[in-house]
Amino acid sequence: MYSCVRSLVTTSRLLSVHISSQPQQCVTDLHLCTNKNRFSHTWKSSVNQWRPLPQITRGQILRLAPTRFMSTGLRRRRLPSAFPVLDERLLPFHRHVYESNLRNSIDCHQRYAESTELVRKGGGDSAIARHTQRNRKLLVRERLRLLLDDEDYLELSALAGLGLPYGDIPSAGCLSGIGKINGLWCVFIANDATVKGGTAYPITVKKQLRAQEVAIQNRLPCVYLVDSGGAFLPLQSEIFPDKNQGGRTFYNEAIMSAMKIPQVAVVCGSCTAGGAYIPTMAEEAVMVHRIGNIFLGGPPLVKAATGEEVSPEDLGGAKLHAEVSGCVDHFAPLEEDAYQYTRNIISTLNFELPEEEDLIAEDPLHPAEELNGLAPRDYNHSLNVRLILSRLTDGSKFQEFKARYGTTLVTGFAKIEGHQVGIVASNGELLYEAALKGCHFVQLCDQRDIPLIFLQNTAPGPAPTTSLFKAESNTNRLKAQGSMMSAVACASTPKITVVIGGCHGPESYAMCGRSFDPNFLFLWPNARVSLLAPRDSGALAQEDEVDTRIHKKLEKESSAFFATARLWDDGVILPQDTRKVLGKCLKIIRQQEYQLSTEKRRSPLLRI
Ligand code: COA
Repeated sequence: MYSCVRSLVTTSRLLSVHISSQPQQCVTDLHLCTNKNRFSHTWKSSVNQWRPLPQITRGQILRLAPTRFMSTGLRRRRLPSAFPVLDERLLPFHRHVYESNLRNSIDCHQRYAESTELVRKGGGDSAIARHTQRNRKLLVRERLRLLLDDEDYLELSALAGLGLPYGDIPSAGCLSGIGKINGLWCVFIANDATVKGGTAYPITVKKQLRAQEVAIQNRLPCVYLVDSGGAFLPLQSEIFPDKNQGGRTFYNEAIMSAMKIPQVAVVCGSCTAGGAYIPTMAEEAVMVHRIGNIFLGGPPLVKAATGEEVSPEDLGGAKLHAEVSGCVDHFAPLEEDAYQYTRNIISTLNFELPEEEDLIAEDPLHPAEELNGLAPRDYNHSLNVRLILSRLTDGSKFQEFKARYGTTLVTGFAKIEGHQVGIVASNGELLYEAALKGCHFVQLCDQRDIPLIFLQNTAPGPAPTTSLFKAESNTNRLKAQGSMMSAVACASTPKITVVIGGCHGPESYAMCGRSFDPNFLFLWPNARVSLLAPRDSGALAQEDEVDTRIHKKLEKESSAFFATARLWDDGVILPQDTRKVLGKCLKIIRQQEYQLSTEKRRSPLLRI
């Protein structure tokens, strides 16, 4: 990139060149645009083939931007593929395991439906009545309906916050996800004030930070709908002091702004104490008359301190902040206006989206519902993962890589909803050869900039060392797994992980577990997440009583619902929805390619 820029400077004797690119992108095609005429000339930097330059005068600024992703007016054509079809039918010998898995899936789906129902009720009937009737506010899902183009949004971690030591916190007190505004995918973080006045519990903070991380990793604009009483005070020690706690939200706001990730805040309720910094640090803020309040200490605090009685509106209402303090930029007479203003703000962002591509996506040969009988109830109920692949990929097509080597891992290329991906799927223990193959394939996809999908179902416990031979083979496996972990950690291509069975032990790291930073990580409802699977706890304890206790604990703590409640993932998805969710994530990840100006600024936007 930089050598290319130097040669441009020499060739055209320019005084200044402005570079616009992301450091991690591999740029091969460049677009040259003058400040008058964008997209006028292109050339290939890799072969240094220069096309005629436009009329350039001394001092004129040239913009160089990676154009691999920009619309050039030319229709792009995908390379044709004729991948083999994986026609993996269910056979009579699968029946027994299939039915056992299906019974387990039905139980898990029942729990999923009950939890979803609970979450939909927010803080309960009386809190909803207080919110809508006394406080005259819209419910959070009504707000999203007005803000977003449609209801086809990707909600993240919907079941976070249930069954925590400090109680059930539906939706962790705030909804987060990714939805379209004027056709642009944006992260939203929206407090649900029916849950204890929208106050922030530790899990709320974690959910907000994760949503910001999603915005950062995928370069998505971010909209905050703020309606919060600030910190949930009884748990202040778990919210305030540490690095990844309350203050991190504001730190992220600054960093995101410096990275040119646009942020808009709508104050549609209380915005107290620390929360007051969210709109103040956003790039643009909208505030609703008679509903929004921004203050560090509310009227009761003023009364206690000075004896003075002051109304919330006079202390920190929309008029005050739009006309006097300048903390917000747009005064919205009604809530409905606020969401329309926000939509208008989003339309001013510097994106150039391509025409909606009609990606041709053939359905798989076999019904997606059959995935419920393939979703393993435990490791011993895992069938050949190709049965799952043939129900996930477009047209059930799969170009397998190294099919005969390291067969406990299946790797290969496929399309999901028209998007080309590389798939890494567990098909048994991650043995030496399988890990080497995984390492090779991950690097291959990184080399070609192809997103990776990990289908994780890892072995329930460590491999025991029972002989010298076994010790050597375990050591080799350790080294190969370490290499695969390095390849996964350093691959700059997007990664999405779906835990289709077990997520146990170190093998889960090589299969891109949470700590390996996948762009998204989802669980099927049957998934188990724990260091050791429950049945392996016997390896830990000799005494029966201890063994039983650990087994029970692991049984409870390894369920997908326990995991998702604690935000170890981005949510539980039903197996039959997997294609749809992956297709959406792949589209979302791709959007960053269409932001016109992505270079990092030195400082964030300041409201001074
Ligand atoms: N910490 C813990 N609980 C809080 C809270 C806080 N900061 N703020 C509100 N709550 C609780 C209330 O006690 C009430 O609990 P209940 O349902 O068990 O009775 C619930 O949240 C709803 O509060 P309520 O005042 O009845 O609802 P509201 O919608 O009319 O008002 C607020 C919501 C947030 C505007 C209002 O409660 C308020 O101003 N709270 C204080 C905010 C504050 O000073 N925060 C400082 C944090 S550093």
